[in-house]
Amino acid sequence: MQNAPLRLGIAGSGFAGKFHHKNLRGLPAVTVGVTSARASSREAFAQEFGVRAYASVDEMLPDVDVLDICTPPSSHAEYIRKAAAAGKHVIVEKPFHGFFGSPETFSKEEMLASVTEELRDIRRVVAESGILLGYAENYIYAPSVQREREVIEKTKAQILRMTAEESHSGSHSPVYGIWSEQGGGSLIGKGCHPLGGVLYLKRKEGLARNGKPIRPVAVSCRTHSITKQPAFEDRGYLRTTYKDTEDYAFLHVIFDDGMIADVMTSELVLGGVYDFIEVYANNHRTRCHIQPVKVVDLYSPDKKEFANMDLMEKISSNEGWIQAYPEFGWSNGQFYEMHDFVHSMREGRQPECDLELAIDITLAIYAGYVSADRKGAEVAVPSI
Ligand SMILES: NC(=O)c1ccc[n+]([C@@H]2O[C@H](COP(=O)([O-])OP(=O)(O)OC[C@H]3O[C@@H](n4cnc5c(N)ncnc54)[C@H](O)[C@@H]3O)[C@@H](O)[C@H]2O)c1
Repeated sequence: MQNAPLRLGIAGSGFAGKFHHKNLRGLPAVTVGVTSARASSREAFAQEFGVRAYASVDEMLPDVDVLDICTPPSSHAEYIRKAAAAGKHVIVEKPFHGFFGSPETFSKEEMLASVTEELRDIRRVVAESGILLGYAENYIYAPSVQREREVIEKTKAQILRMTAEESHSGSHSPVYGIWSEQGGGSLIGKGCHPLGGVLYLKRKEGLARNGKPIRPVAVSCRTHSITKQPAFEDRGYLRTTYKDTEDYAFLHVIFDDGMIADVMTSELVLGGVYDFIEVYANNHRTRCHIQPVKVVDLYSPDKKEFANMDLMEKISSNEGWIQAYPEFGWSNGQFYEMHDFVHSMREGRQPECDLELAIDITLAIYAGYVSADRKGAEVAVPSI
């Protein structure tokens, strides 16, 4: 294990870049630099956090041990390849990868085939370079999900079915809702989180009971554009600017042991982020609360009192009773993911959320889009 702090270079100086940097607190790691598409935003980040602004990933790579990719998903694969070529470890935000062409031009089958080939190639590039890759799926690191992992491993529980969700009323990003920028809509943008959680838990069950991960083999999926329905009555509380992506998805996952999970995701939920996984096993039942969690109930008589405080993610107004975070990034795992990445990279071991899980999540999502095009018919998840 090295003694010097791990040197991170962050690509992307927006929301995710900032929370990755802040969550390094107390760790043997340091952010040495940042780069982003716009000079003004990377310089503002550099000034705020006392790091160096680089004009590009290429310029930053020689000075770092890890490239931390917090840019929009269409750039993830390119930056993973650059880091691997330079022999630098990678942390990469969700969604791992996607297909960034218009759904008017490309069929969902073409998207799945292209993504499958790309994932195969990324796996080869990463393996040949010998780098470690941490996929920043924070659900894996949520304290409630880690507690459930422990229960499964210690009791050798068999998971029979799961339900899981991530929903809230849209995204702050102006390019959310554009397929060629995001690779899809709710299913990839939000659904990747609960899907990641359920695939992770079945993997862990398989390893605990039979020494082999249990993988998804098939999916059935429906997607809908509810805010585009002629009957939708817009009261102004929900975002509606989705160009060519769905705002609701339901993904039914079938695992190789015949057990199942149902993942729901949408942009149609008011009241802040609604994130959970519920596990129905042969010896227990667990509801993993991710957000909100009932730790701090805060009453705010007037929204002006807390206008500038971040109390609860994606809530529309800081007024009334609020289930406030005890700490940003605690219950949803964003704090703990950086711990695992830093320690695993210093120790030279695979992180808990690794490339293999990122690959399965991505394949299940695009198999889901093929299924949705066929109005829910079962589609095999490729095994690569
Ligand atoms: N895990 C989570 O809960 C979570 C939350 C938010 C965002 N994310 C993910 O993090 C990533 C970034 O999202 P965000 O919300 O921070 O977006 P953002 O719009 O706030 O910031 C994106 C940053 O990337 C920069 N950028 C864009 N294209 C680039 C390129 N090709 N090269 C270099 N820089 C580029 C922009 O200039 C900006 O600084 C996305 O993949 C998103 O899905 C994850």
